[in-house]
Amino acid sequence: METRENILSRRSIRNYLSEPVSKEDLQEILEAGTWAPSALNLQPWYFVAIQSKEELAKMSEIMERVADRLEPSLKARFANAPAVVDETTTFIRNLGGAPVYILAFQLKPDYENNADMINLSIGAALENILLAAHDKGLATCWLTAPVETLIGDELRDMFAPGKGSLVALVTLGYPAKEAKAPRRKEGRFTII
Ligand SMILES: Cc1cc2nc3c(=O)[nH]c(=O)nc-3n(C[C@H](O)[C@H](O)[C@H](O)COP(=O)(O)O)c2cc1C
Repeated sequence: METRENILSRRSIRNYLSEPVSKEDLQEILEAGTWAPSALNLQPWYFVAIQSKEELAKMSEIMERVADRLEPSLKARFANAPAVVDETTTFIRNLGGAPVYILAFQLKPDYENNADMINLSIGAALENILLAAHDKGLATCWLTAPVETLIGDELRDMFAPGKGSLVALVTLGYPAKEAKAPRRKEGRFTII
């Protein structure tokens, strides 16, 4: 896919087919992440792709708790839009039925005072992952819900013991539904 078309047509998808993702595709997608630029070339990321049925089931139990913890604040924030609360919590609970979850961690528990540049570097790697997946006809959604609910350390200890904090979770799979592109705001850049 041409680069511009890939960037503009990628969408966050919240409903997936159960069709598995091949090992080769998964490998190439994760490898694309590792080719991102990183501050001081630290390559401060560690990815865990979960696709075994047993581990996905463990994740489901955890995401159930994430949804329960987030629901009260979502209800308060979207008091006039119960459908948004319902849609958001349902997605957190079932992760859209995605056959693969990618957990993104910092590689080390401590990068001293470099938190921003570490997070930016991992963000760059995640965008590579999203675009590489889209290029293969696969869909993704980048989530921070499990990070916000402080359940990241539990996930780290289960899936990446000894590594640093959880930065994001990405769902991956073949899309079951198209998504409409959310409007982009005007005036977010200038050319001088
Ligand atoms: C850092 C980050 C955190 C996000 N967290 C969530 C999330 O917790 N739940 C969710 O459904 N989408 C999440 N998203 C996806 C955004 O909602 C989505 O990217 C945005 O609405 C624009 O839509 P698009 O990706 O289809 O262009 C997140 C995206 C980013 C970059």
